[in-house]
Amino acid sequence: MTGNDIRKKYLDFMASKGHAVIPSSALVPDNDPTTLFTGSGMQPMVPYLLGETHPKGVRVTDSQKCFRADDIEEVGDNRHTTFFEMLGNWSFGDYFKGEQINWMFEFLVDELKLDPKNIYITAFGGDEKAGIPIDEEAPKIWQELFATKGIEAKVANIGSETDGYEKGMGDGERIFYYDSKKNWWSRAGVPANMPAGEPGGPDSEMFYDFGTPHDPKWGEHCHPNCDCGRFVEIGNNVFMQYVKQTDGSFVELENKNIDFGGGLERMAAAVNGDSDVFKIPEFWNVIEQIQTLSGKKYEDNLEAFRVITDHIRGAVFMIGDGITPSNSEQGYFVRRLLRRAIRYSDILEIPAGEMKNLAESVIAKYQNHYTILEDKREEIKAAIATEEEQFRKTLENGLKQFNKISLQVHVETKMEDGKKVIDKSKPPVSIKSISAQNAFDLFTTYGFPIELTEEIAAEKGLVVDKTGFEALMAEHREKSRAGSEQKFKGGLADNSEIVVQYHTSTHLMLAALRHFLGEHIHQAGSNITAERMRFDFTHPEKVERETLDKIEDWVNNAIKTGGEVTIETMPKTQAENDPTVEGSFWDRYPDEVKVYTVRGNDGTIFSRELCGGPHVEKIEDIKGAFKIKKEESSSAGVRRIKAVLEN
Ligand code: ALA
Repeated sequence: MTGNDIRKKYLDFMASKGHAVIPSSALVPDNDPTTLFTGSGMQPMVPYLLGETHPKGVRVTDSQKCFRADDIEEVGDNRHTTFFEMLGNWSFGDYFKGEQINWMFEFLVDELKLDPKNIYITAFGGDEKAGIPIDEEAPKIWQELFATKGIEAKVANIGSETDGYEKGMGDGERIFYYDSKKNWWSRAGVPANMPAGEPGGPDSEMFYDFGTPHDPKWGEHCHPNCDCGRFVEIGNNVFMQYVKQTDGSFVELENKNIDFGGGLERMAAAVNGDSDVFKIPEFWNVIEQIQTLSGKKYEDNLEAFRVITDHIRGAVFMIGDGITPSNSEQGYFVRRLLRRAIRYSDILEIPAGEMKNLAESVIAKYQNHYTILEDKREEIKAAIATEEEQFRKTLENGLKQFNKISLQVHVETKMEDGKKVIDKSKPPVSIKSISAQNAFDLFTTYGFPIELTEEIAAEKGLVVDKTGFEALMAEHREKSRAGSEQKFKGGLADNSEIVVQYHTSTHLMLAALRHFLGEHIHQAGSNITAERMRFDFTHPEKVERETLDKIEDWVNNAIKTGGEVTIETMPKTQAENDPTVEGSFWDRYPDEVKVYTVRGNDGTIFSRELCGGPHVEKIEDIKGAFKIKKEESSSAGVRRIKAVLEN
C-alpha cells in the first residue's frame, strides 16, 4: 500500500463516521505567530478545541502537512523525517474516548489489516502534582477490543524515565501506563510546563511492533517508547479535556474534545511490514533515482540517501507553500534543507544540477492529492535550481581554501652553512589534521561551520583539532565579553526585590532574542524564583552559544545604560494594533491592559511589552551581571533558557 492509498482509506473511513474532510492548512500557520511551522495537525485547530465553532461542524478530518525543524539532525535513522503528513480527526465536544478507540482499532485491524498481535498501546498513568487522575477507561476499552480478536491484553505500569523503565515488558502485557512525559499532550508539553489558558489532556498511543531485535544501547529492556526502533508510534489519541488555570490547577473543558494524530508514513511502513519508512513508495521513487544518479546502493549509504530524500521532499512542500530559500525565518530552513541535501549528494557523487530533478520525483508522487505542487511545479524546480547554483558558488571559495590547507605538507629541515634548509633526503609528509587555527579561520572568514569542516575533513581522511578550535572560540568570546565589560563599567544601583529584577530582565532578554534571532520569537512561558529565571520562547532550533553571548551583552548593556521603566494603561485593541508592543497570550488579558516600556537614559527603547507587572522602577535597579546558564529544547518549536543575575 502506498502512502496515498492509506491517506485515502483513512479520510474515507472518517467520512463514513460523519466527519467533514477538510484540506491541509499551509506549513506556515495563518494566524499563529507563536510558531514558525505547523508541526502537528492540532495546531490549526486550537481555537475550536477551546470552544470556537468550526465552520464544518463538530467532526472534521484531514491529512495535515507538518514540519518539525527540531528533527533536522535526527534524520538518518529508519523513522525520523522533518516533513511528514499527520492524519487527523477531531471531535469538538462531540464523541469521546469510546468511539475514538473503537474506530481506531477498526481502522488499523479491519481497514489496514494490521495484525492486532503487533499492536501495542500506551496510556496515561496520572500526574499527582497536576492533580490529574490515571486514565482507567482507555485501557479497559482497548482490552475489550483485543479480546474480540482472541488476544488477552494485560495492563502494566512501565515506570518512568528516571527509573530507566527498568521493569520491562512482562508476559502477555500489551497496554502500558507511562507518566505525563509520554502520555500527556499539549502544545507546551507536560502539565507543569503549560501556560495558563492552554488546553491539554491525557493520551493513548498506538505502537506497531516490527519484531526487530532490541538494541541494549537504548536500555536493558525494550518497551513501546524505547528508541531502539522495534516499536514505532503510529498514532496518538488525545483526550483533550483540560485547560490550565492561572493558579496552576486544571479544570475540565466544558466540551471534551478528541485530537487524533497519526503518522501517515509510519502507518504505511507498518502495513508494508518494514520498519524503514523510506521504503514506502513515495520515498522509494526518489531513492531509486539517487541510486541511478550515484551508481551507489541505498543499503550501503543509508544516512546520505535518507537525508537527501527527506530534505528534498521537505523543500518541495515548503516552496509549494510559498516559502523560498532565504536567510530569514522560515526561508532559512528551506535553505538549510537544500544545502544539507546538496552536501550529501556530493558525498554520493551525484552530478551537480540534479536537485531539481529529484524534486520532480517528489512532485510526481504527491501532485494528485496536493494539487498545489502540480500548479507550482516550475516555480518549485526553479527555486531549487537557483539555490543549488548559489550554494555551489559559496562552497567553492571555502573549499578552495580548505584544499589549500589540506594539501599542506610537513617537510624536514636541516642546518647547512648556518642556514635552515629543506632536507631533501626526507620525503615531504602530508598533514594528518586540520589545525585549530585553520578550522577557526574557515569559520570566521569562510563561514564554514565546524561540522562542515569536520565532514569534509573526514572525506579526505583528516581529523580536525576540535578541542583546539573550541578553545579558540572560547578565547574569542572571552575577548568580546571583556571588551563589553569594560565599556559598561560602573553605574550599578543598590539592592531591590530580586524576583522583580528577574522579571524586568526577562523583558530585556525577550527584546534581545527578538533583536538577534528575529521577530518570530515570542514568550511561551516563564518561571522566576529568587535564584534564577526560566524562560520559554518560540524558536525552532538551538541557539548557538555565540548568539547567547550577544544576548547577554545586549541585556547587560541595557542594565548599565540605566533608565526608566514606565507603565501605560490602554485599551487592549490599541495595544494589539500597535506594532511596537510585543505580547503573547493576548486573549488572557482584560480589555484594559498595561504596557511596560524600558527606556534607556540615552533615549533608546529597549523593550515595550504587554504585561501585568511588577517591574523595577529604574533599569539599574537590576543588580549583577546577567548570565545565560543553559539553553535547551522545551517542546516542539519552543526553546528554554535558564539565566541568573550574578553578583
Ligand atoms: N496532537 C497530537 C500529536 O501531535 C495528536 O501527537
